[in-house]
Amino acid sequence: MKNEILNLLKREGMISEEINDANINEFADLIEEIGKNETEYIKSSEISQDLNTKYVGKNLYVFSEVSSTNTIAKFLSQNGIGNGSVVIAEKQTAGRGRSGKSWESPLGGIWLSIILTPDVDYSKIPLITLATGVAVAKTLEKMGVENPEIKWPNDIMINGKKVCGILTEAITNFNTIEHVIIGVGIDANLSIEDFPEELQNTTTTLEKEIGRVNENLLIKTFLEELEKISELFNSKRYEDILKEWRKRSYTIGKVVEVKKPFNRSYDAYAVGISKEGALIVEKTDGTLEKVISGECLIKKLN
Ligand code: BTN
Repeated sequence: MKNEILNLLKREGMISEEINDANINEFADLIEEIGKNETEYIKSSEISQDLNTKYVGKNLYVFSEVSSTNTIAKFLSQNGIGNGSVVIAEKQTAGRGRSGKSWESPLGGIWLSIILTPDVDYSKIPLITLATGVAVAKTLEKMGVENPEIKWPNDIMINGKKVCGILTEAITNFNTIEHVIIGVGIDANLSIEDFPEELQNTTTTLEKEIGRVNENLLIKTFLEELEKISELFNSKRYEDILKEWRKRSYTIGKVVEVKKPFNRSYDAYAVGISKEGALIVEKTDGTLEKVISGECLIKKLN
């Protein structure tokens, strides 16, 4: 993380000195300052205008280019930047996806991370990811997408292709969760040619599906949806969140290949999600299993 922060500060011409473990936190003020500067495409003034939230997005940091908004959000959260603050970048140079994969983040997409400080234990993290998926899907519906679906646990799909990914990271102190960083990447005003060839068959963009979108309006709508669903979460109305998720599920009812870390993969039938947000699958021998983490590839349509 130190190098990524260092690069950002150097690029902005804000430091020439050495960063080390002893002084890195002194640079939090500079990062905050850069994030309050005006950027070219994404405008915090437009996002903030009439933003109907109590805390999500009330504090916005927008950067023209960072390594990863999750990294910057993590750094800021460890330096006193609190609940509901949002880090947005027009472009990421080292965007991160799940399972250690990289995430393509050129200009034209929406790359943002939200800092939340929910009063929950570790077991609730999968539910936060599902809730965020619902917030993205509702946002896309409001922007005119007809039937966005959610592929367990965290991919938002349009017509069977991925348009958005979510990377939730928890910052813990022993067993206590201090902050949750929710990273959301939406392939908005991008054309398929902006992606490497190997992703072109499985990825789509909003521009392709519904035409160019107003990024600032989309972000504002998302922050409002996220706060609404966070409120459900905070009042422990988990079943209401799961109901919204199930309505939009891309996975339930399909044959999937379950890939769990360090285990052999197997085929199963996705029958539902549990109250903790795990995928419930029926294996070929008829037994049911809960998949809490791991990948799940859709094998074939029913
Ligand atoms: C996935 O693998 O599907 C998750 C992708 C998450 C990408 C977003 S873009 C904003 C935030 N910053 C990152 O480096 N990653 C997340």
